[in-house]
Amino acid sequence: MKAVILVGGLGTRLRPLTCNTPKPMIPLVNQPFIEWMLLRLRDQGITEVILAVQYLAHRFRESLGDGSQMELKIHIVEETEPLGTAGAVKNVEHLLDGPTFVFNGDVMTDLDLRAMLAFHREKQSKVTISLTPVEDPTQFGLVEMDRQNRVQRFLEKPGPEDITTDLINAGTYIIEPEVFRYVPPKQFYMFERGLFPVMLQTGDPMFGFPSRAYWTDIGKPQTYIDVHHDILIGKVAYNFRGRQIADRIWLEGDAEIHPSAQIVGPVVIGPGTVIKRGARVIGPTVIGARCVIGPECNIEGAVLWDDNVLDEGVVLRNCVLGRKNVIGERSHITDGAIVSDECSLGAENRLERGIRIWPNTELGDRAISF
Ligand code: GDD
Ligand code: MG
Repeated sequence: MKAVILVGGLGTRLRPLTCNTPKPMIPLVNQPFIEWMLLRLRDQGITEVILAVQYLAHRFRESLGDGSQMELKIHIVEETEPLGTAGAVKNVEHLLDGPTFVFNGDVMTDLDLRAMLAFHREKQSKVTISLTPVEDPTQFGLVEMDRQNRVQRFLEKPGPEDITTDLINAGTYIIEPEVFRYVPPKQFYMFERGLFPVMLQTGDPMFGFPSRAYWTDIGKPQTYIDVHHDILIGKVAYNFRGRQIADRIWLEGDAEIHPSAQIVGPVVIGPGTVIKRGARVIGPTVIGARCVIGPECNIEGAVLWDDNVLDEGVVLRNCVLGRKNVIGERSHITDGAIVSDECSLGAENRLERGIRIWPNTELGDRAISF
């Protein structure tokens, strides 16, 4: 069976992590998110995947090639103009035959695709939408159904007064290609504000498939951190790469860990990383490849991409560091702060409360302190 993954969004809500990296390519536990997703699709019986790409397309080509390494056939189709969610699939219609899975490229879920397909067939549905309960549907697409699960109403980004259910569009669809006759070619058109409301009017059967599978939108800074914590504490099934060297401590390749360093799992450490004297690394934490954790550093609940260098006594708590940053001694980065790529921070800076530092920023000693 074939699948289309929508990966054309700009990832604005995750900036500055997405300044240099498309959202689906950002690492999740040291592996590009899209790679995790592709392997999961392959393991659930999908053989051919079309990536509808728009932004930083070359990064997908470099990283994934034709998919043969993953035993998948991958087509990367680039849009010159953003075509919207439905327009992007219409654009690859010539590659489709029969019911097709369509995925938002920024959702982490362990949804049972085979069960969803059986449901789609049983209902003789034209479009089946996976649904998940959330506390606040206002950021999502709200879906109302009748007792037979037939969709009655679809409301994208509802106002608080419109909320009648906690079930939202979870961003996985099964679509019969014939419905693309409703989608105008080569123009911006969305499933959520275009095709689905149209299908409610035409009366084409559209069903919701509610599920309590793990589900999270990785497209916001705090959910990006939370999904790491969920994976590390075992809330979602995940095949950790590397080997387990102690209780819930996974190491890829070789690392140099000073005997006086304290590591408390769940922690993942990338290849070539050095952890120096007296450093404490407390899980859930992920450290990328070739990082240097200086003496007496204190790290807890953090996500570090590759090639970060922390000087002595740096404190990281519930934060993200992108690639190739140098953090000066005794700096504190905490409370959802994000430092993106190739930044250089002097000594004793304090970045807190969701502060975001753009790529290539240079800060002197104590440039930011509260
Ligand atoms: N190729 C392509 N072209 N892809 C696109 C385009 C485009 O023009 N626009 C958006 N996408 C991709 C994004 O990269 C993302 O993977 C997916 O389509 C959904 O777009 P978002 O921008 O992330 O939408 P959202 O998060 O506000 O809302 C969507 O997802 C929610 C679930 O996370 C909607 O589908 C909601 O109804 C849904 O609840
Ligand atoms: Mg999204």
